[in-house]
Amino acid sequence: MEQSIESYIKNLVRETIGHTLGQLQLQSERRIYVIANWKMNKTLAETAEFLQKINSSNNVSVVVCPPTQLLYPAHLFIKQSGKPVGLGAQNVHWADKGAYTGETSISMLQDVGCEYVIIGHSERRQYSGENDQLVNMKVAQSLKAGLTPIICIGETLEQKNAQKTEQVLTKQLFGALKDIDSGDFILAYEPVWAIGTGQSATAELAQETHSYIRSVLKQIVGQKAESISILYGGSANESNAAEYRAMPDIDGVLVGGASLQAHSFDGIINVFAKGEQNS
Ligand code: 13P
Repeated sequence: MEQSIESYIKNLVRETIGHTLGQLQLQSERRIYVIANWKMNKTLAETAEFLQKINSSNNVSVVVCPPTQLLYPAHLFIKQSGKPVGLGAQNVHWADKGAYTGETSISMLQDVGCEYVIIGHSERRQYSGENDQLVNMKVAQSLKAGLTPIICIGETLEQKNAQKTEQVLTKQLFGALKDIDSGDFILAYEPVWAIGTGQSATAELAQETHSYIRSVLKQIVGQKAESISILYGGSANESNAAEYRAMPDIDGVLVGGASLQAHSFDGIINVFAKGEQNS
């Protein structure tokens, strides 16, 4: 009964005041993430030290993605610390098992405590031939197994200069989500030109692009697009985090360089934890 009164009021609000309040309500239902992508960095000792030092927050989902060989120790360190920190991998193979030298399966990741996996990072698209079809297979299998994919999309500088950003993102989104209409995933908009360059996208540009991404998502998954977290990645740091946090379609950040030191990563967590996003 309470449920139906709530949805009746939400619908009434949407209908009477042009969706605005209803929209705000939907935004506040989105989870906010601050995710560390360590890429090919860190030793065992550094991992232990980092996980001991960082703070967590109840307002924000904090996730750390170490290189594969550090996943299990990281899982143990997190457990020991009692902090609500999630664990993610930086890549996964789509097959259950078999003759795939050097690869790691979804069940292997889950076996060592992973709940998340980054899929389609531009560095893997660039160096390891990860294309939209592979991304789609990995996303589909991960969702089936209950491992949450963090799907990365983003345009190169060349594509941006040729004004092809929307075209590229649309293709990547439709490719990654082909035949997928259920399951929880996270999206990360990572403009390639902003990654590791210190040339972060302005919060206004990121917001505009995230809003476009959400409109394409709507075409693919319908109204559920409103509840999907879209993170920004690309030279995000302690100093620019507040600007991203203030934007209605930016639901957190995926951080490379600034996630390597506990104090700077903590700084970003604090910014996002400071209160309700989008307020
Ligand atoms: P930087 O934060 O170092 O630009 O890296 C972003 C990134 O690639 C996260 O996945």
